[in-house]
Amino acid sequence: MQQDDCPMLPRPDATSAVHSVRVAEFIRARMADANGSLSFAEYMQHALYAPGLGYYAAGSTKFGADGDFVTAPEVSPVFGRVLARQCAEVLADVHGGAILEYGAGSGKLARDILETLARLDALPERYEILEVSAELQERQARYLRAEIPELISHVSWLDGPPANHMGVVIANEVLDALPVERFVRGGSGIKQLRVIDDGGAFAVVEAPAPDRLSNAVLAIEAELGQSLPVGFVSDISLGLPGWVAALADTLQHGVAFLLDYGVTRREYYAAERSGGWLRCHFRHHAHNDPLILAGIQDLTAWVDFSAVAEEGLNSGLDVAGYSAQAQFLLGGGLDAEMQEFGSLPLVSQLELSGQVKTLTLPGAMGEHFKCIGLRRGEVRTPSAFRMADRTHTL
Ligand SMILES: C[S@@+](CC[C@H](N)C(=O)[O-])C[C@H]1O[C@@H](n2cnc3c(N)ncnc32)[C@H](O)[C@@H]1O
Repeated sequence: MQQDDCPMLPRPDATSAVHSVRVAEFIRARMADANGSLSFAEYMQHALYAPGLGYYAAGSTKFGADGDFVTAPEVSPVFGRVLARQCAEVLADVHGGAILEYGAGSGKLARDILETLARLDALPERYEILEVSAELQERQARYLRAEIPELISHVSWLDGPPANHMGVVIANEVLDALPVERFVRGGSGIKQLRVIDDGGAFAVVEAPAPDRLSNAVLAIEAELGQSLPVGFVSDISLGLPGWVAALADTLQHGVAFLLDYGVTRREYYAAERSGGWLRCHFRHHAHNDPLILAGIQDLTAWVDFSAVAEEGLNSGLDVAGYSAQAQFLLGGGLDAEMQEFGSLPLVSQLELSGQVKTLTLPGAMGEHFKCIGLRRGEVRTPSAFRMADRTHTL
């Protein structure tokens, strides 16, 4: 589909349009290297992470009102303040330790967590950030130096996961940014969707799925106890198990809080969900065409949380809890963080109640977003999971 087929999308400005042409040229060159087509996951990898070019690797605003989408830490500092209370519980059980945040975005979540832990007198030994985008690393450092100069000495950026992490791991909307394969259930096997250049525009074609993809989909069907309907289209992140296994290698003692929009495997591959879970975000317009606006729109796929739990268990972690974001926040200290509400000026009350509604209402972020806790070692179940744990549904 061309952008003309999505008339509701705003036009990119001239600089972004030129940048997108460069990204598309880079992707076409990779296609030529690979005999004319890329798997969808390879296309997504280049569109998001091609060095200096991809959506997360280049300099567009991305987060917040002037960007393309809003994440929970961008909606309200209350999100990070509640998460900080959960960190404090885990850090107390681990008797110290550090916080490791994957994919820290603008740096707002790090600021809110550190400020809150300083207020609660529960600062971690270190706050480490593992961020694949060099551009975002620089942006985070600038932001945190300006916002929390008194706490910046706690923060460092890592090149890879630390060997022996004790404490907390946080990843908010990182799993949804991992590339996914797109597949179709054929009558006699699984087909892979591959991206080609069709006369100057990207298009998808079906090809026989390589063994790794085919086996992964057949394993899902075996677990569901039935074949997916012929013609069923969906997504699967083949990189997710490796990401969780690497996290498990890192986490020696403590809890990882992984927050994202997602569902259980049964919901993910329900017959009526043909079409999959990939979404694109451009200037606050969500749409379904990943083949346009290369490198200047976000591509994101909902998370199969059963896959996260499964790989966590395979890697020796246990599931500390799985809750919708609303219950996670309500159970995790939202009330304590709202105690000053009555003494705030009316305008701040209105602003804050709007933010809390966005974070917790089912039609906003409250139900679609989930948090899964993966744990290693002796740590009490974080209080946020005690209100409405759904681990049994995974
Ligand atoms: C959707 S943004 C979320 C940013 C931030 N956590 C927030 O909630 O606002 C995804 C972030 O994950 C980063 N990222 C993607 N893959 C990653 C990986 N494998 N390891 C660490 N960070 C990653 C991106 O560069 C980006 O900062």
